[in-house]
Amino acid sequence: MLDCLLAYLLAYLLACLLACLLACISLFSYGGSATAQSIDTSELPQLGEEWVEENPYRELSGDMRDKVLSLGASAYNQNCASCHGLGGVSDGIAPDLRMLKASSENDQWYAYRVQNGVEHDGVVSMPEMTEQLSQEALWSVRTWLESVETNDLLPSDIF
Ligand code: HEC
Repeated sequence: MLDCLLAYLLAYLLACLLACLLACISLFSYGGSATAQSIDTSELPQLGEEWVEENPYRELSGDMRDKVLSLGASAYNQNCASCHGLGGVSDGIAPDLRMLKASSENDQWYAYRVQNGVEHDGVVSMPEMTEQLSQEALWSVRTWLESVETNDLLPSDIF
């Protein structure tokens, strides 16, 4: 009788352990995929906590500009394209961000929008983008959008 109880307890413990292990594995792999999607901007010029007022990456050239553009393109396509359109080309759900031409006034509007999102009558139509993306990533997005505007790329040129 005691043997039976012990065996039962042991089986129960083992089952618990297994469940814990599975939960850990699934949490870990979820964390893993979330990391894979985040944008690593550590190689770009760092901007600090305080938001700058003008696009600090606009005048970069050479390799650093290429890095900003490729980071900006993937940050855009992962975080903005679902509403603002693939490749920066709006399909009408949200404004076409290529229209926001390079100027310090538009930089301020851009910075305001990505930090505050948009809410109408309690309905969030655009979340605050600073929850997922750093200032460096968001200015890379802006720099990339400006480059799409001048080159007039189509989504098919990018994918
Ligand atoms: C869930 C949908 C959604 C996502 C995701 C989203 N936006 Fe928006 N965004 C909107 C909508 C809708 C508007 C228009 C809001 C309004 O003015 O009523 C907007 C407006 C803007 C504006 C102002 C444009 C203008 O011409 O006035 C900027 C800038 C902007 N978004 C940037 C971004 C960036 C950058 C990202 C990604 C990092 C992003 N948004 C992600 C929905 C979204």
